[in-house]
Amino acid sequence: MKVVTDISEMAALSVERRRRGWTIGFVPTMGYLHKGHLSLVRLARERARWIVASVFVNPTQFGPGEDYDQYPRDRERDRALLEAEGCDVMFFPSAEAMYPHGFSTTVSVGDLAEKLCGRSRPGHFDGVATVVLELLNIVRPDLAVFGEKDAQQLAVIRRMVSDLNTGVEIVGGPTVRESDGIAASSRNAYLSPEERKQATCLVHALEKAQDLVRSGETRAESVVEAMRRVIESEPLARIDYVSVVDPESLEDLEVLPREALAALAVRVGDTRLIDNVRLVPGE
Ligand code: PAJ
Repeated sequence: MKVVTDISEMAALSVERRRRGWTIGFVPTMGYLHKGHLSLVRLARERARWIVASVFVNPTQFGPGEDYDQYPRDRERDRALLEAEGCDVMFFPSAEAMYPHGFSTTVSVGDLAEKLCGRSRPGHFDGVATVVLELLNIVRPDLAVFGEKDAQQLAVIRRMVSDLNTGVEIVGGPTVRESDGIAASSRNAYLSPEERKQATCLVHALEKAQDLVRSGETRAESVVEAMRRVIESEPLARIDYVSVVDPESLEDLEVLPREALAALAVRVGDTRLIDNVRLVPGE
C-alpha cells in the first residue's frame, strides 16, 4: 500500500489508474480507524478495482470548543490496518495543503444540514460537505462509501453529489457495532469504563423504538417519549436530541409511514455520541 501526502501526486495516481480502465473506490475518514471504517473499505473492495482511503482530521467541521485538538490520531496504526484490509492507497494530506492560504469556498447544503446534529453543531455539515467535495475532486473515484451510522452526513453528501452533478456513486455501509451494541466510533476512546456502560442506553433506546414499532405503534411522539425515558434512566447521559424523521428529508414525522429513521445524539459525560436505526412498520 502506498501512503500519499501530496495532493497532485494523489490526483495523478488516480488519473493513471483510470487510464488503465480500473474502477476507483474511495473511503474518506478522519482516522483512528476501527472496524466500522474497515467494513467500508471491504465494501469498496467488493465494488471497485482500486481503493483509496483518506485519513484527514478536517478542522473546518469542528466548532469552537469541540474536540479537534484531542481527536485521536495514530497514522502508523491506521496505515497497518488499511494495508491489512487490502487498501491500495492511504491519502494523508496536511491541513495546510487542503486549506492553503486564501482558501475561501464553502459548500452549504441548506435545510438538510440545519436539522438534528446541525442544530447543536452549526457549520459542521458545511465543513463536511466542503472537504468531501474537495477530496472527491482530488481522487475522482467512481464510488465513495459512507457509513449509515452518520445518517445525516450520508443524506447531506447524497444531496450535494446529486445537486452538483458530481458524478460519483455514493454507497451507504451498515453500522458496525461493538459486542455491547454500541456503534463503533473513534470517540468511544474518550469514555471511562462507567461512561461506556451507560453509553449502551443509546442502542437500548433504539431497540425500544424498534420493539414499539414492531408491536404496532405508529405515533412518532410515543416512540420518541419511550426512547427519552430509556436515556434519562442513566445519570451520566444528557439528551441532545431524540427524533423520528423521514430518512431522506430528515423532517420530523408525526405518524410512521413506510419507513422512518430513529436518530439520537446524547452526551455521556463530556462525549457526544450519535446513533440511529431504520424503523419499518410491519417488519
Ligand atoms: P469518520 O468519523 O472517521 O468516519 C469515516 C466514515 O466511517 C464515515 O462514512 C462514517 O459514517 C463511517 N463510520 C463511522 N463509524 C461507523 C460504524 N460504526 N459503522 C459503519 N461506518 C462507520 O465521518 C467522517 O469521518 C468525516 O466527517 C468525513 C466524512 C471523513 C469528512 O471529514
